[in-house]
Amino acid sequence: MTWLITGGAGYIGSHVVKSMTEAGERVAVLDDLSSGDPARLPAGVPLERGSVLDRPFVDRVLREHAVRGIVHLAAKKAVGESVERPLLYYRENITGLQVLLEAAAGAGVRSFLFSSSASVYGMPDTELVTEDTPCAPLSPYGETKVAGEWMVRATGRAHGMATACLRYFNVAGTADPVLADTGVSNLVPMVFQRLDAGAAPLIFGDDYPTPDGTCVRDYIHVADLADAHLAAARRLAERAGKGEYTDLTLNIGRGEGVSVREMIDLVREVTGRDIAPEVVARRPGDPAKVVASAERISTELGWTARHDVRSMIASAWAAHTGTVVQPAE
Ligand code: WQD
Repeated sequence: MTWLITGGAGYIGSHVVKSMTEAGERVAVLDDLSSGDPARLPAGVPLERGSVLDRPFVDRVLREHAVRGIVHLAAKKAVGESVERPLLYYRENITGLQVLLEAAAGAGVRSFLFSSSASVYGMPDTELVTEDTPCAPLSPYGETKVAGEWMVRATGRAHGMATACLRYFNVAGTADPVLADTGVSNLVPMVFQRLDAGAAPLIFGDDYPTPDGTCVRDYIHVADLADAHLAAARRLAERAGKGEYTDLTLNIGRGEGVSVREMIDLVREVTGRDIAPEVVARRPGDPAKVVASAERISTELGWTARHDVRSMIASAWAAHTGTVVQPAE
């Protein structure tokens, strides 16, 4: 069967392409290249350039590649931008998903994986966030992920499609410098940018109710995240093959909290750029602590993360500086 990976030329999508092709799955990529880069795709993987909003285009791609499963990552993902431009996010993330689901149902696609996010939980007031923790998103971006999950589950149920909604926690690292994150909107690349300029890394607030006062997150290596997609895709295909309806909703994290200060200290150590951080005001909307319970995915799929935070930082730094390192396994 062929898997269509939307957003497959992006940072996370290209890691999913790598995991799935290396495991012997046949894939095709749909990407509008608004933030993706075809150089991230291995030779032999077909790229269909266009938008999920374009129904005739999506219909043609599903037909020509005889697609039986979809991994849908193509979406807008900047929380702050979604507050400024909510309609853009509703169109790209919700209408885009609707068009894709309509086309998928019409084309007999049997398995559908949806890229969701820990941002569905908002400010969870719990030590470990389980998949049953109520969804209370704080931004239009998070809202599009909650609504997207509803759409995916309901469509799966109505059309006999096996579905999975994968809720990513804080993704970092790279399996290969070519696939690296080129954005600077998350902690690790933002710290690198400050160090490049010889400036102090910034800590957005150290008066949170956490052990060292800085926010705690659950960081996950993108190579591990990609492997979780492979495991979920195979499970869906197996269930769909038996005609079984399935809807998996799974956190993808390590179940381990790391504070901003700990992350920055580790970046200083790994990079050798030892500039003490500077504490500045809190960033509005940041929850104090968001750490996954990674139990359900381990039970359901036998998947657990293999890479630690040091490996995320080292691989990202090597890609950033052009150093040659052992790619993450
Ligand atoms: C992590 C922590 C910052 C930069 C967001 C989205 C989430 C997901 C991932 C999805 C926070 C602090 C950061 C800096 C700092 N997106 N920080 N100094 O906000 O946890 O999650 O990205 O697609 O949905 O909400 O990630 O990397 O921005 O921040 O102190 O220079 O680092 O305040 O506590 P976040 P992040």
